[in-house]
Amino acid sequence: MNILLFATNNLHKLREIREIMGLDVQILSLRDVNINEDIPETQDTIEGNAAQKARYIYEKTGMNCFADDTGLEIEALDGRPGVYSARYAGEGCSFDDNVDKILLELQGNENRKACFRCVICMIMNGKEYFFEGRINGVIIEVKRGKDGFGYDPVFVPDGHKQTFAEMPALLKNGISHRGRAAEKMVKWRKDEIAK
Ligand code: IMP
Repeated sequence: MNILLFATNNLHKLREIREIMGLDVQILSLRDVNINEDIPETQDTIEGNAAQKARYIYEKTGMNCFADDTGLEIEALDGRPGVYSARYAGEGCSFDDNVDKILLELQGNENRKACFRCVICMIMNGKEYFFEGRINGVIIEVKRGKDGFGYDPVFVPDGHKQTFAEMPALLKNGISHRGRAAEKMVKWRKDEIAK
């Protein structure tokens, strides 16, 4: 059985990634290897943060591993919150605080276009590989739905009517930024193993 360590303790992400990666690889979380501290993410790009997190846990454990970093890029806000998506409303803020802040900043703005961008950095046998996934959509004015996390209740992907927070997990995973990045990683691993 292949084992990959995922640099997260976010149960939503863990569930999503396990569903996407399937049964031929066992995905461990940080908790599974007794890493309970906050992993530094102090870079000013999404790629930089994904690499920083992956390198940190690779150095600590020596295990093949990967880390993801996501930003919500809103056109009318010049790409904000972007790399600052997690703490947009300030240190220690909740998902709701972040959502309320973007809704306030977008009040009265007709341009609601946004994009989730996810970068996964995988370290396999000491080498780094990057995979990117994007999903375009719009930010609605009032939160809808109870599932998912983060900005899900206000993000409606293009071509859909439901927010990410209203969609069944399987549907979100099939089209989401992280799903798309993870699918690229899965395909790359399959090709590598087949070589
Ligand atoms: P992270 O650094 O990858 O954890 O992502 C930064 C922030 O982006 C998170 O704290 C969430 O607020 C947001 N985010 C990441 N992925 C998603 C998602 O799938 N849906 C909604 N928000 C997300």
